[in-house]
Amino acid sequence: MKVGVFDSGIGGLSVVKSLLEANLFEEIVYFGDTARVPYGIKDKNTIIRYSIEAVEFFKNFDLDLIITACNTVSAYALCEMREAAHCPVVGVVQAGALAVSNTLTCKDANILVLGTKATIASKAYELELHTLEFMNIQTKATGLFVPLVEEQIYNKNVLDATFDYYFNDLQEPDVVILGCTHFPLLLRYLKSYFKKETLFIHSGDAIVAYLKREFVFSRTYMHPKLKFFASENPDGLKKIAREWLGI
Ligand code: DGL
Repeated sequence: MKVGVFDSGIGGLSVVKSLLEANLFEEIVYFGDTARVPYGIKDKNTIIRYSIEAVEFFKNFDLDLIITACNTVSAYALCEMREAAHCPVVGVVQAGALAVSNTLTCKDANILVLGTKATIASKAYELELHTLEFMNIQTKATGLFVPLVEEQIYNKNVLDATFDYYFNDLQEPDVVILGCTHFPLLLRYLKSYFKKETLFIHSGDAIVAYLKREFVFSRTYMHPKLKFFASENPDGLKKIAREWLGI
């Protein structure tokens, strides 16, 4: 099994981490559109156009599957990517909503969806969650989290002030969906901000559970081949991949 992982930039490495832990693939080809990140503030047509270009790029690799690690792309461009691709294309939004329903029985649970401006505006998570009969949903576009992670600013005072800014008018959630590739890198800090029973949904773990449900994996691969591509500064992407993934 050869998989392509697409993200607007470096954030999708958080999904690659989960894929590596699951040992599902023989080869992982990562493409980050670092020259044009962020997608989360772009309009629908632009996001679709860039995503189709990524599918064209992946055609060089004879893939069995493409995963869109990017929540913004998953929210807007999945249908168009499927039309353009020669292999199945899966996204993280549906997987994230299913992860909520696999972990929670109480349909009244208060679910907070965090994402980029575009992901939240798309209402994609709400639609998926409504289908699964979850109705008590709050959403928040927390765009500032993206540059904080990109700049690796993990100063507690800065983060707490940012969390207060975004969350002070919200009800205390039971579940937080980390609906953006970058947000799992803030998990430790978000965990200490919200009540301790809060459940966090991570796109990487959600997509692994989804893949195991939807596809048959007849064997595991302990040492997958990894290839990293970026539309700008590929060495920068490879350096961060080594740091984040410990490879
Ligand atoms: N990868 C994007 C996402 O998961 C976050 C960064 C961006 O705005 O491009 O939505």
